[in-house]
Amino acid sequence: MSGVPVITIDGPGGSGKGTVGRQLAQRLGWAFLDSGALYRVTALAAIDQGLDLADQSAIASLIPSLDIAFGSGDSVLLGGEEVGDRLRTEQAGNAASKVAAHPTVRAALLQWQRDFRRPPGIVADGRDMGTVVFPDAGVKVFLTASVEERARRRYKQLIEKGLDANISALSDEIAERDARDTQRAAAPLRAAADALVLDSTAMSIDEVVERILAEAERILRC
Ligand code: DC
Repeated sequence: MSGVPVITIDGPGGSGKGTVGRQLAQRLGWAFLDSGALYRVTALAAIDQGLDLADQSAIASLIPSLDIAFGSGDSVLLGGEEVGDRLRTEQAGNAASKVAAHPTVRAALLQWQRDFRRPPGIVADGRDMGTVVFPDAGVKVFLTASVEERARRRYKQLIEKGLDANISALSDEIAERDARDTQRAAAPLRAAADALVLDSTAMSIDEVVERILAEAERILRC
């Protein structure tokens, strides 16, 4: 499926990647790959099976048996059952960050992500979309925002969902997750050399979407 256009959006959690990516995909009529959801589902499945999150070979061997599918919106199905809500907790995010540090787990999820590429195009959101999974993507974006701003956004999201949240605990968790995702040996979080780096701290979601669409029109003529 190489030749099918891809826009990659990488960056730390809370930078707005997911919201921006979904809106972009909708505007272009393209599919959206939420690669973080794959790591989150894998972590949940491992927890459900009573596996130790440090046991990389057990987790990697579990992956081929997992039937993962994306539904509409942010619906995620595991074995045909909706697990979207369970995936969005901070606990699932932290567990995902732990399993994602294992090279064999990343290798086991690589082909699934590449097979997701389909016409007329995809927007792929994650940490290593532009560097490892789709190095040939036509448009690569690295989206960042300050830790404080990301904690504020996460807090707002959680409160809106009626969940409990504490902004300083969120800030600490975000900084800890950033450190693990950036410092790991396997596919660490970093901007591709050819990525457009956008700091969204003072930008609205709409401004980020328009900026990337302009880039896509310029490069991909879409
Ligand atoms: O984007 P997210 O918060 O849903 O991702 C959850 C964790 O999964 C994140 O902390 C690191 C990991 N991840 C990754 O290592 N590579 C990706 N492409 C996407 C997510």
